[in-house]
Amino acid sequence: MAFLNRVVSKVSIGSVCKLVFPSSSAALTSGLCKINQLKDNERLRFSSTAAKHKTERVKVHFIDRDGNKLTANAKIGDNLLDVIIENDIDIDGFGACEGTLACSTCHLIFKQADYDKLPDTPTDEELDMLDLAYGLEDTSRLGCQVIVTKDMKDLEVSVPAAVADARGPV
Ligand code: FES
Repeated sequence: MAFLNRVVSKVSIGSVCKLVFPSSSAALTSGLCKINQLKDNERLRFSSTAAKHKTERVKVHFIDRDGNKLTANAKIGDNLLDVIIENDIDIDGFGACEGTLACSTCHLIFKQADYDKLPDTPTDEELDMLDLAYGLEDTSRLGCQVIVTKDMKDLEVSVPAAVADARGPV
């Protein structure tokens, strides 16, 4: 029964009409099928699952080098560098390599509890780059490598006191 339900839920009324009433069927039946197909289309048009997920946001706070709290509307699925750019948050020298994992200027320091909840751990490439960052802490991450999730609502991260560009003078 569960299998049947799965199959039925994947088949639109329109496609069932085509199977049950081939092209030679009566005009009335054909008309009813067309109405049902239109209903299918409306359902698809108004289905907002994907769009809603794309635009879902949470508030994230950045503590800058002067101790100011800068609040951003972070889009779920973006990384923290994208969030800073999209929200026009002004942090001098931040994200110099534009997220290509080549500079370490997007260094951010998390609170331990937030760090522990991050859905992923840093890759070897990120750790190599973090080694070159100024003021490295146990809870440091590169903002361009941290993806915003729903659980990050009201996350507060600190920008280190200084910035070190791993690429050297550019
Ligand atoms: S922006 Fe350069 S490493 Fe993240």
